[in-house]
Formats: sequence, structure tokens, C-alpha cells
Amino acid sequence: MLDIKITKTTEPKQKPSSDQPLGFGKIFTDHMFIMNYTEGQGWHDPRIEPFHKLSLSPAAMVYHYGQEMFEGLKAYKGDDNEVYLFRPDMNAKRTNVTNDRLCIPNIPEEDFVQAVKTIVDIDRDWVPTTPGTSLYIRPFIIATDEFLGVAPSATYLFMIILSPSGAYYSSGLAPVGIWIEDEYVRAVRGGMGFAKTGGNYAASLIGQVKAHNEDYSQVLWLDGVERKYIEEVGSMNIFFKIDGKVVTPALNGSILPGITRNSTIQLCKSWGYEVEERKISVDELVEAQHSGKLEEVFGTGTAAVISPVGKLRYVDDVMLINNGQIGELSQKLYDTMTGIQYGKLEDKFGWRVKV
Ligand code: COI
Repeated sequence: MLDIKITKTTEPKQKPSSDQPLGFGKIFTDHMFIMNYTEGQGWHDPRIEPFHKLSLSPAAMVYHYGQEMFEGLKAYKGDDNEVYLFRPDMNAKRTNVTNDRLCIPNIPEEDFVQAVKTIVDIDRDWVPTTPGTSLYIRPFIIATDEFLGVAPSATYLFMIILSPSGAYYSSGLAPVGIWIEDEYVRAVRGGMGFAKTGGNYAASLIGQVKAHNEDYSQVLWLDGVERKYIEEVGSMNIFFKIDGKVVTPALNGSILPGITRNSTIQLCKSWGYEVEERKISVDELVEAQHSGKLEEVFGTGTAAVISPVGKLRYVDDVMLINNGQIGELSQKLYDTMTGIQYGKLEDKFGWRVKV
């Protein structure tokens, strides 16, 4: 159990008003969690401080070789006025999976969850209440050694910041257009595609710029070896409903094991859908669309929740999905997932955790 020292701000910020559009990840609360790691001493000095800028040496290793990781989860205000998290234990587990790949020391899962609960509790008045909004929680770790050699750092900072947020896409639940990228790749076999680390997102930016220039909102990545199999969108995992079955790429090491992905699979199975986690080629997708079997496409992610896809572009093919409308399954998943998160539906799987 962490002994967290709490220093509260003496200058609380103005909270956004309930009619102010929040956007995603633009506003930050009054406090932050910080904990240091020093080789030989382990994680130490857990504390909550007023939200502040960092002072780091320009030689800090994170700036040069990108040794860092991050997580994302949300806190929701229930009708009972209590604050709830969604499966924070899964974020704690995934943190250490990422840490192992990045040579960052593990954080005990219970300490991770305690830190999240404590900072959210301190800033619980910042959890927004307008429908569709939540408090986005961003835990992250950076390498802080002042050293230009390429090696794992001996010192780190683990921090958690909080951001009252609305929908990730400015279009909200309206179906998005997705660009299937056929030139660049995001991750390769044996690389770090499964890890939640900045490098994967940096690698995705060029594709995103390309897609935006063509008026698509996101990029769907193909595998890095054959550039043939569907992987993920970068800010979300991807699902297809083909001929009544739910199909999603299997976790092959280059795809992020999304918590919303896992929850979606469990929900679909509980509703009697056959769910296939397997390789799915872009050719199979184009064929399914041409034969009328591609019924729905949607993304899943903590920030994106369930995001219907209305249009998919691959080279010269522009596929309109479900006439550009939200599909029945996508809508049901969105309603159920958010219903559980906000406490409006029974939590049959025991996913909600009270702060
Ligand atoms: C999340 O969904 O929490 C993520 O971390 C995706 C991020 C790129 C916004």
C-alpha cells in the first residue's frame, strides 16, 4: 500500500461550465499524482501535488530515445453521484506488459489502482456530468536519467493527470471515414505494437496526416510484413460484422490489447454472437463488401468508446458501410458499454469500481 503525501492547491482553477464543449484532452484538473523510481531504491515518494510544469534536464533520456509508456482510462459520475472507474485492474496489468517491453520497472498493480483512485478522489468535483462526458485519466512513465547513451534509464517518474473530456472524435457518434494505409506501417513482428508507448503513436502520425488531407478521420493499419492483414486504427481496435459474425484481428503482438476490445468481445458473446479473433485480409474485406456481407464496421477504445465507421478507403476502392449509418450492433454496444460505465445498466460482469 502506498503512503501518498497530499498537498492541495491553494489556487483552484475555474472548472468548465456544464454548457461548455470540452473537446478531448484539452483541460486539466487542479492536481496530479507523481512517484519517483530510483534503481536500488524502487518506486518511492508517492505524492499528489497541484498540477504543475515539470523541470527536467534537456539530457533526460525520454527526450532522446522515447523510453516512456502511457495508459488511458476514464472516471464516470453515476446517477447516485458517486464516481466510478471501468476495469482499472486491466490498465494496471497492461502497464506492466508495456513496461517489460520498454525495460521500465514494473509497478505493483494494487499501487497503480490505488494511485488512480486517490487522484480521482481528490479531483472528484472535476468529473463532468453532461451526457457523454467523463474524466479522462492519463497515467504515464518517463525515463529521467541525464545521459545520452542508449540504455535503460535508472530513474523514472510515474505521473497521472486528469482531463474532463467529451467525445474523442468531434463528430461524436456519427460514423467516421477511415483510410486503409497501403504505404506506411505502424508496427512490425517482434516490435512494440502491443505496447502502449509514444513511439507507436509517433509512427502513426504520417498516415494520419495523409488521411486528414484526403478528408478521412483515422487510419486503419495493415500488418508490417505483407501489408495485407488488418491490424488496428491507432486510437482504437477494429471490428467487422460479416454475414452475422463478429470478426476482429487476433492479438498477434503488433496490435494493442484494448480493454474496450476485450469488453466488446465479452458482450457480443453474451448476446449469442459468434466472435472470431483471427487474421483478416484487406482482400477479404473488399470481397465481403462487394458481396453485401460486410454489415457493420466499428472501432473500440477507451477514448473513442464505440465508434461506427461509415466509409473505408483502400487504394481505389471507397466502401460505404451500412449506407454510412450507425449499425444496430454498434449502437447496442455503445448503449450497453456506456450504460454500464455510467451505472444506468446492471454491471453483470463486475467491471465498475467505485472510487
Ligand atoms: C485511449 O483510448 O485511452 C487511448 O489511449 C488512445 C489515445 C490515442 C487517445
